[in-house]
Amino acid sequence: MSKLFITDTILRDAHQSQAATRMRTDEMLAACEILDSIGYWSLECWGGATFDSCLRFLNEDPWERLRTLRKALPNTKLQMLFRGQNILGYKHYADDIVERFVRKAIENGIDVIRIFDALNDVRNLESSIKFTKKYGGICEAALSYTVSPVHSEDYFVDLAKQLVQMGADVICIKDMANLLLPYDAYSLVKRLKSEISVPIHLHTHNTAGTGDMTYLMAVQAGVDIVDCALSALGNGTSQPATEPLVASLKGTERDTGLDIEKLAKASRHFMGVAERLKKDGFISDKSLKVDTNILMYQVPGGMLSNLVSQLKQAGAEDKYYEVLEEIPRVRKDFGYPPLVTPTSQIVGTQAVLNVISGQRYKMFTKESKAVLAGEYGRLPGEVNEEVRKLAIGDKAVITCRPADLLQPEYDKCVEQAGPLAQSEEDVLSYALFPQVAEKFFQARAARKEAAEQPVEDTSNEVRVLYVDDMTV
Ligand code: CO
Repeated sequence: MSKLFITDTILRDAHQSQAATRMRTDEMLAACEILDSIGYWSLECWGGATFDSCLRFLNEDPWERLRTLRKALPNTKLQMLFRGQNILGYKHYADDIVERFVRKAIENGIDVIRIFDALNDVRNLESSIKFTKKYGGICEAALSYTVSPVHSEDYFVDLAKQLVQMGADVICIKDMANLLLPYDAYSLVKRLKSEISVPIHLHTHNTAGTGDMTYLMAVQAGVDIVDCALSALGNGTSQPATEPLVASLKGTERDTGLDIEKLAKASRHFMGVAERLKKDGFISDKSLKVDTNILMYQVPGGMLSNLVSQLKQAGAEDKYYEVLEEIPRVRKDFGYPPLVTPTSQIVGTQAVLNVISGQRYKMFTKESKAVLAGEYGRLPGEVNEEVRKLAIGDKAVITCRPADLLQPEYDKCVEQAGPLAQSEEDVLSYALFPQVAEKFFQARAARKEAAEQPVEDTSNEVRVLYVDDMTV
């Protein structure tokens, strides 16, 4: 066995999981020089919820962020998270949008694209894998890890083999909910290492407090790369912290070779950023504590805070534990989808409806109906047909690749976005988040106009831009 490689998620999942994705580009830039000198396998810095958050909350152009980071991190591979046919949004997009998005992401600086599908339906990964290869990206295809009667070790090994055949350069075990326990990780990684030849990259969180142990067992089993986050924003709902793992492996055959002092120095910078995020109310103490609800109900941390706010709105906070118990039952009726965006929200909301309406499946959300109608792809297990009938009646269930039913969308988006969209990148932002992008384009145009007036001190301009987002 050789050295363990580390991907640091400090610029993406760490603040997405702990701080509602609110880290700003200027807060990243100050640490880029040192981050770039550390020798990570990659830095995860784009995709996931960062794109939406830039436009919606930070008044930043996500494409501009990517170009800026590319310039500031010339020696490190940049990695993004990509939701297959959902790209960075919450529904299926046509193949022409997927192709343009992948091409533009790579052109603007992305090296590694981690691609996943919430249902592990490989047909939803076909296009993004194909285009990542076509435009020269490193294609990391992910298994959305979950636990259920249908998600056996054999299931994941078979899935990994299919993804390698489809062109994956790296296989990721994406344990978004921190469900992969240490000995299961050992066993799964061992199987994957003996049955497939591409590197294995493990992603987990420390929500339930088992993440470090899972990594250590995976390291023993020969995992090639793991995702960590610098301690300033590590642990809790985020990734296990980088420094403790690096220290633990020092002098062993899996020594990462990373310099602890450099890591500590980089982490010190992000302590300041974490302070700011806490002061602005984006980090709560709850997200830093071990949460054992996951071990009992397999409900990921991010879902719990959603749940609490939904129940609050309905004036039914006393129903919290009833809903927690209902979630696994809905998941079973829906054929055991892994709980990750967007299925986590869909199953969670349906469970809330089932409890607060006083009768199970009296009401369905539009999204629940779509899942049961096959619009998100093939569900992993058997669906409860009675529930499906209540939801969609006798409507036929989609059995083809859902994106095959979509017409090309790009030209329509160009037309709808209008003159405020000034580049292909702008049109792609619009394609994913029409209202949010439009608002951003308008604000950008207004800023540009203001900037064209003679100003005495332009250094203020950037700061003025950030005053607004504090109120969001
Ligand atoms: Co994650």
